[in-house]
Amino acid sequence: MYTEEMLESIKKVEATRDERLHTEPRRLSADEKDALLRRWHPDYREDAFAEIKVGPNRGEKAPKQLTHLLHSNSRLYGLNLDLSRIDYDTDVLIIGGGGAGCSAAIEASNAGANVLVVTKLRLGDANTMMAEGGIQAADKPNDSPVQHYLDAYGGGHFAAKPELVKELVSRAPEAIQWLENMGVMFDKEADGTMVTTHGGGTSRKRMHAARDYSGAEIMRVLRDEVQNRGIQVLEFTSAAELIKDTRGQVAGAVLMNMETDDYLVCRAKTVILATGGCGRLHYQHFPTSNHYGATADGLILAYRAGAPLLYQDTIQYHPTGAAFPAQIQGALVTEKVRSLGAQLVNIDGEAYMHPLETRDVAAAGIIRECRGNKKGLTTPLGHAVWLDTPMIEEINGEGTIEARIPAMLRLFLQYGIDMRKVPVPVYPTLHYQNGGVEIDAKCFSKTIDNLLCAGEVTGGVHGRNRLMGNSLLDVIVFGRDAGISAAEKAKSVQIGNMTLNHVTEYAQALQSAGEHTNDVSPMLLPKYARHAREFEWRGFRYA
Ligand code: FUM
Repeated sequence: MYTEEMLESIKKVEATRDERLHTEPRRLSADEKDALLRRWHPDYREDAFAEIKVGPNRGEKAPKQLTHLLHSNSRLYGLNLDLSRIDYDTDVLIIGGGGAGCSAAIEASNAGANVLVVTKLRLGDANTMMAEGGIQAADKPNDSPVQHYLDAYGGGHFAAKPELVKELVSRAPEAIQWLENMGVMFDKEADGTMVTTHGGGTSRKRMHAARDYSGAEIMRVLRDEVQNRGIQVLEFTSAAELIKDTRGQVAGAVLMNMETDDYLVCRAKTVILATGGCGRLHYQHFPTSNHYGATADGLILAYRAGAPLLYQDTIQYHPTGAAFPAQIQGALVTEKVRSLGAQLVNIDGEAYMHPLETRDVAAAGIIRECRGNKKGLTTPLGHAVWLDTPMIEEINGEGTIEARIPAMLRLFLQYGIDMRKVPVPVYPTLHYQNGGVEIDAKCFSKTIDNLLCAGEVTGGVHGRNRLMGNSLLDVIVFGRDAGISAAEKAKSVQIGNMTLNHVTEYAQALQSAGEHTNDVSPMLLPKYARHAREFEWRGFRYA
């Protein structure tokens, strides 16, 4: 499967392996990291961003594709929808059926609220399902939430909102317990204690996992729980727009049946946005590790209703996306592979950087190695470096790969690549939306009453860079919080006359700003056919 050039390079990787097994690459200083990020991280490529011309973040920048969606038309503009014909009436409407949406649904129903979950694909089709390496929680004797706080806050470049990080880390041990009580099967030692490992930027081993399919295991249990409780779920149903009332508070949403394109009116006392991330927008033409539905819908819905975004200009590129073969290009090669000892190695077999730097630093390091130092591999798809996976078995013993990262083994074995014997080629892949809708510590929008947000759609929890395992944690902690908060709030909400005036006003603002396009947003599903035309796309080529 590998080319001649790749096979030649593998000989050099093998020749240096023994020495590398006994020498750990040094960590970069803070100044070195800073310089590396500014020169090589995609967030610093000015030509990839565009100014937002309307709304609360006017004058700020966002990735070009996101700015375009923020400047696009509502599907409802000019439709004159009759909002008095109500199809669904509920206490809590949850938009999104992934980890955050399901956690919210379980807690809101626990609190006695009437709950409706809508999801544009099937329940559980979400980035949570795709998560691999694990979920962080400081629940071992040598660790503490304070230590976890310091790691997360520092890893996010001290830009996270302290009250959100505090909520995240202090509720983490309880989140693990909650999941375990519902049936999540975490990896355990023979004596029953949880197996925990490091992730990039963690000072303690606090990654709890179910092999390397932690998200699928967590989503399995959450989805079962939602279904077993009989919570109402509408699959293949998206949200086209939030509805407000004449007092300016959120009062529901216009839903869209994805099969018939029919619109439905849902009145709700509180609305939780749990719509996930943006990977399918392929910023800067990066491939993605994300689920098919990750098209930043929640950002558009909230923004058009008047909610500000926070750090919408910062994106996480996971350092180790599969770089070859094409069938798996961009697929996540979990950080756990590096936690278990695999090093990042260039074409000459040199470990040019410590394997567990934080993700933004590791991603920038790979890009520099390939484009600046010209020491990357050339694969049939573009550039890559090696992830030296055979080291894992040298360090931890034969059988470790099959036992600890079986999904990774299978991912490459399908294409004849046995990662126990040969290294695998990797390059950064678009993985996570660091920024999103601004919330307070109980998930309420800071500006719009009765609107709550949880999970990847929010901004502020992770600052400008998220650590591994804090996303699964985020969806559980803030998903649960959102469900509890929404159910409580719904008890006192009186909804006034429903309106879509904000949609009209936003359209007028776009017109005044001279922004015209025929495109509509939220996007809902990626448009690969159109991208192929626009960019003469023949797969993602790494520049
Ligand atoms: O590398 C990983 O397994 C990814 C984990 C995460 O994004 O938290």
